[in-house]
Amino acid sequence: MRHLINPLDFSVEELDRLFTLASDIEKNPQNYAHKCEGKKLATCFYEPSTRTRLSFESAMLNLGGSVIGFSDANSSSASKGESVADTIRVISCFADICAIRHPKEGAATVAATHSGIPVINAGDGGHQHPTQTLTDMLTIRSLKGRLDQFTIGLCGDLKFGRTVHSLINALSRYDGIRFVFISPEELRIPDYIIDMLKEKQIPFEEVIRLEDSIGDLDILYMTRVQRERFFNEEDYIRLKDFYILDQAKLDLAREDMLVLHPLPRVNEIAVEVDKDPRAVYFKQVQYGVYVRMALILTLLDLV
Ligand code: CP
Repeated sequence: MRHLINPLDFSVEELDRLFTLASDIEKNPQNYAHKCEGKKLATCFYEPSTRTRLSFESAMLNLGGSVIGFSDANSSSASKGESVADTIRVISCFADICAIRHPKEGAATVAATHSGIPVINAGDGGHQHPTQTLTDMLTIRSLKGRLDQFTIGLCGDLKFGRTVHSLINALSRYDGIRFVFISPEELRIPDYIIDMLKEKQIPFEEVIRLEDSIGDLDILYMTRVQRERFFNEEDYIRLKDFYILDQAKLDLAREDMLVLHPLPRVNEIAVEVDKDPRAVYFKQVQYGVYVRMALILTLLDLV
């Protein structure tokens, strides 16, 4: 039995097979409409979500399966003190596969350790968000035709943004990747990631101004400032509008640069940017459904 807790749980070759499957699902959805008949997905969300939970549910319904779960820890027995370990043992009696989101780093690992069914990490605190990473990678692969030889800028809250941490981990295995980290000093990328990049001799630079580096980028990955992970509201208010990508800044970028964002957006991308063909963050959401369908099929061994 396999789980997906960290994007590195799958080899580059396995990811390639997963993305090829996701692309086939996009082109031939009718071939997959009954693959999960009789199977159940449990979505156990201890933290708010729109995209991840609903795209998992949509993915399972598209495959002909069904869905159970909870979208709020307060409506589950976690509010009575039940542990994640006990909850997943119980869920294993009800469902065939489980996607779990939890505010604590490591919660998905704990769930996988005690589970009788495959567990998918749908976000654990500020740590990892592997299925968002699969979504990001499928978007890049589908729109650019490859996953190597890119300069990718990551902009915003690089300290708390789990999507950023997962994406760097995953892309660091491809050739010719160069990272540009664009953040205020207080929201710099964590040291453990810098150490990993140095050890692997992957080129990166850290800058503060988006305008100074946007012209060098093949991909710009914008992120929101993660209010829920701040210790005080004053710091959040001071930093929340540090970056706003508007049309004037986007005009400094290359014609073929892509703008990705895991969403939700707050204020970091002006709405006027949405109509620019380089803005692909809503297409990205659609790719998230295809890649989650491919992941469910792979983990249930139904490929
Ligand atoms: N990208 C993402 O994780 O969005 P949700 O929080 O809405 O699931």
